[in-house]
Amino acid sequence: MQKKPHRQIRSYVCRSGRKKKTQLSAWETLWPLYGLTAPAKTCLDLEGIFGRSNDKIVEIGFGDGQSLVEMALAAPERDYIGIEVYRAGIASLLSAIQKKICPIFEWLPGML
Ligand SMILES: C[S@@+](CC[C@H](N)C(=O)[O-])C[C@H]1O[C@@H](n2cnc3c(N)ncnc32)[C@H](O)[C@@H]1O
Repeated sequence: MQKKPHRQIRSYVCRSGRKKKTQLSAWETLWPLYGLTAPAKTCLDLEGIFGRSNDKIVEIGFGDGQSLVEMALAAPERDYIGIEVYRAGIASLLSAIQKKICPIFEWLPGML
């Protein structure tokens, strides 16, 4: 049987899309709090970033972040990192973090 040649890895660009007014506001206020920028070929100090050494879950391509939020709410003892190229999706996740995830931690001093 003839072997198929490997598909070449393509590079991706940020898909900016159109952000709604609420998404723009979420982006501006929440990205500085929850966003991570990783320069190419560097390692992130995840224990330093999260302030604890719990299990880490990475979702590559989280879309609008709905599944990531559900996972985080179901198992808050783990730390989550989402990677996405679609900026409107990132803004949507940032809003969900503030609305759904932050309120459950408010009573735990020092968690956020
Ligand atoms: C099929 S969706 C997955 C949605 C989500 N994981 C879920 O289960 O609901 C694929 C996502 O991957 C993102 N994506 C594609 N290439 C990517 C890349 N190189 N890095 C990060 N995200 C990427 C797309 O923008 C899209 O939102």
